[in-house]
Amino acid sequence: MELVVVDSYRELSLWAANRVADLIRRKPNAVLGLATGSTPLGLYEELVRRHREEGLDFSQVTTFNLDEYLGLPPDHPASYHYFMRENLFAHINVRPGAVHIPSGVAADIEQECIRYEEAIRQAGGIDLQILGIGRNGHIGFNEPGTPFDSRTHVVDLAEDTRRANARFFNSIDEVPRRAVTMGIATIMEAREILLLASGPEKAWAVARTLEGEVTPEVPASVLQRHPRVFVVADRGAAAQVKKLAG
Ligand code: GLP
Repeated sequence: MELVVVDSYRELSLWAANRVADLIRRKPNAVLGLATGSTPLGLYEELVRRHREEGLDFSQVTTFNLDEYLGLPPDHPASYHYFMRENLFAHINVRPGAVHIPSGVAADIEQECIRYEEAIRQAGGIDLQILGIGRNGHIGFNEPGTPFDSRTHVVDLAEDTRRANARFFNSIDEVPRRAVTMGIATIMEAREILLLASGPEKAWAVARTLEGEVTPEVPASVLQRHPRVFVVADRGAAAQVKKLAG
């Protein structure tokens, strides 16, 4: 894993945008893995700007999002379908048919998980996966304890995750208790991974990811076993990394 420490959230967003833009220029039909949460918002804003002002072309790009809340329809303002449309897809020229997000309202959710895995395979796998990180080290919605060999599956959300995400809802009671997420094994098959972390509340998770034991108790620690991971962290998020101390 390579740690890139940056001075600001803006710099983190630009670093990630450069990486994504370079990939799309090199491989116009790239397959992107996308994340939600506050952390990638600056990245998406910069990609939209580059599309508008510099003609960054998404017309051949395919995307797969990590996760979705169970029970939220795509037009629910706190759903990840809504989030992605508002913050990225409505503002770039990606083809609607090339956008994939697991459905939180599929009649047969097990079948939906299988279908999602199959769609990733058919697209040729993910070239670059963007990840945020939960305060407890979760990636996607893979909470502590998720087996490393998991594929797209339904999860029970940890209380800490529900509390952290309650800001997107009117109250914590509205935060769904379950979600559907790419599994750890699904994420690990991406050819390159960019984990973005901003702010001191991520410091514990970032340090454990980079320097801790590789354990399902800290899901992101599995990334130590991936050959091509960049952890882009601002100073707050990198504060507990031992090799930077002193
Ligand atoms: C949610 C998402 C994760 C995300 C995490 C951190 O739980 N499912 O993919 O990484 O939140 O979000 P934030 O970037 O808002 O801190």
